Amino acid sequence: MDMEKVNAMDFGEFVEVFGNVIERCPLVAAAVWSQRPFSDREDLERHFFAFIDSLPQSGREGILRCHPDLAGRELQRGALTAESQREQSGAGLTRLGPEERRRLLELNARYRARFGFPFVLAARLSHREAVPAELARRLQRQPAQELRTALDEVKKIAGLRLADLLGADPARL
Ligand code: GUN
Repeated sequence: MDMEKVNAMDFGEFVEVFGNVIERCPLVAAAVWSQRPFSDREDLERHFFAFIDSLPQSGREGILRCHPDLAGRELQRGALTAESQREQSGAGLTRLGPEERRRLLELNARYRARFGFPFVLAARLSHREAVPAELARRLQRQPAQELRTALDEVKKIAGLRLADLLGADPARL
């Protein structure tokens, strides 16, 4: 998809195509549409990130709360978005053994209890064996630092999803 086509999209079309760049948070794409035209993929990405950064803390936490747990209830119920399903499956999180799943459920619950939002990790840049260790490591963080890290992960996920939609080579991101 080229930028000329993106810039010509009406509001409904833009939100349909880019509405899940930020997981289950189409409001971000809805706000970004008003900023068109975009010069290239990086420019579009900058507008997504700038909108997130412009939110008050409650809004940034709200974005995190729109994410499902990794290997959590939504995955079990088949209720993930297509993007999240693909990312979690690619990381091997759909093929956990019972003990691995139990460990992740427990860590996810502890993380949520400590920070008030779910553990978000760019699953495509990770793997099932690395996820529990990373979760346990981030559980030790201070809340303000962890909020920043979690939002950086949201941005990594968004960058990869935009690259999928716009046909950039992810190796060059
Ligand atoms: N990493 C990539 N996709 C997702 C997701 O849907 N949820 C969480 N928690 N992390 C992700």
